[in-house]
Amino acid sequence: MTTQADSSAEHISLTEQETEAGLDLQQLQQLVGLVDYDEAKDPFPVTGWDAIVFVVGNATQAAHYYQTAFGMELVAYSGPETGNRDHKAFVLKSGSIKFVLKGGVTPDSALHDHHRRHGDGVVDISLEVPDVDKCVEQARRAGATVVQEPTDVSDEHGTVRIAAIAAYGETRHTLVQRGDYAGPYLPGYVARTGTYVKRDGSPKRMFQALDHIVGNVELGKMDEWVSFYNKVMGFVNMAEFIGDDIATDYSALMSKVVANGNHRVKFPLNEPAIAKKKSQIDEYLEFYDGPGAQHLALATNDILATVDAMRAEGVEFLDTPDSYYEDDELRARIGNVRAPIEELQSRGILVDRDEDGYLLQIFTKPVGDRPTVFFELIERHGSLGFGKGNFKALFEAIEREQDRRGNL
Ligand SMILES: [Fe+2]
Repeated sequence: MTTQADSSAEHISLTEQETEAGLDLQQLQQLVGLVDYDEAKDPFPVTGWDAIVFVVGNATQAAHYYQTAFGMELVAYSGPETGNRDHKAFVLKSGSIKFVLKGGVTPDSALHDHHRRHGDGVVDISLEVPDVDKCVEQARRAGATVVQEPTDVSDEHGTVRIAAIAAYGETRHTLVQRGDYAGPYLPGYVARTGTYVKRDGSPKRMFQALDHIVGNVELGKMDEWVSFYNKVMGFVNMAEFIGDDIATDYSALMSKVVANGNHRVKFPLNEPAIAKKKSQIDEYLEFYDGPGAQHLALATNDILATVDAMRAEGVEFLDTPDSYYEDDELRARIGNVRAPIEELQSRGILVDRDEDGYLLQIFTKPVGDRPTVFFELIERHGSLGFGKGNFKALFEAIEREQDRRGNL
């Protein structure tokens, strides 16, 4: 798989966001496992992520958190001062990825209803597409719910064409055809920079791209959503983890992964599996009040520096027990990686290796009040996997946290 990507990736072009971020194809192959594919044969071509839209209880403060703790840069804004009386929206960027943080301003904003039900979470996994109408036609033909018909939206910077389809729970995929739109985000947003000054010595960016977003769906629904992404959006199945792969004594889940043609967009989909105690997926479904995005994996080219910088800003990660690093079987399995194992151990970074290479990864604790959304940092070195070898250690760490919350 890696070889194929290496030999053919000259045919893929960078997105504007990637070019702006100073990334090149080789870096993207390493960061997110980008591969070449024949877009002409794709019934629903997706270029990559457009932006990840969060609804939060306090966007003003969340914007501060993602600038300080996640090193993101404020690039655009919409709110009462710009004529949007309903809500405030802050657009933050890191490398090639944008987060949009929205919080209701007027008491009757629909965003408050979303927040009341789900807490802080991802409302829209927005994707950049070369042809919105083609995608919507395909989506409708395949039985998807079109929640917004293709529409041109314009301002002084140009026109974007937008539509949206429903995904799991109340999550949607807005499809954005940017053309030569030159504004800072979408029509209605104005360019805005933050006043926060980074600490001396902190990395220029804590992450360069988004690798994958995991969706949690109800028991028995995983295959339905895999089929949705296959049939509606032409995504391919990447890997499959079922049963013992990811079961501990108490908690279990099943997971399958779908990806768009060029693999920029990867969606592992989880459903709970029957176990002795409550699955972490059940806990999520209970507290998110339904299916939704569980974690976002941020691709970094220096996970050690990123973890240090985030920890210095107070971000909390799941603990990994020393026994993980002292396990001879693990040491033999992972072989040589770019940093001494002691350096990984002192930071709690996990390692996994497969036939293509290895990856380093670590998971934050939930970032909001509810035990729902969290982040992963991932540094890929050839491996296109998701850390299957770490699932058991990871889930045991999650269960310790679940237990502390009284939810196991
Ligand atoms: Fe992940």
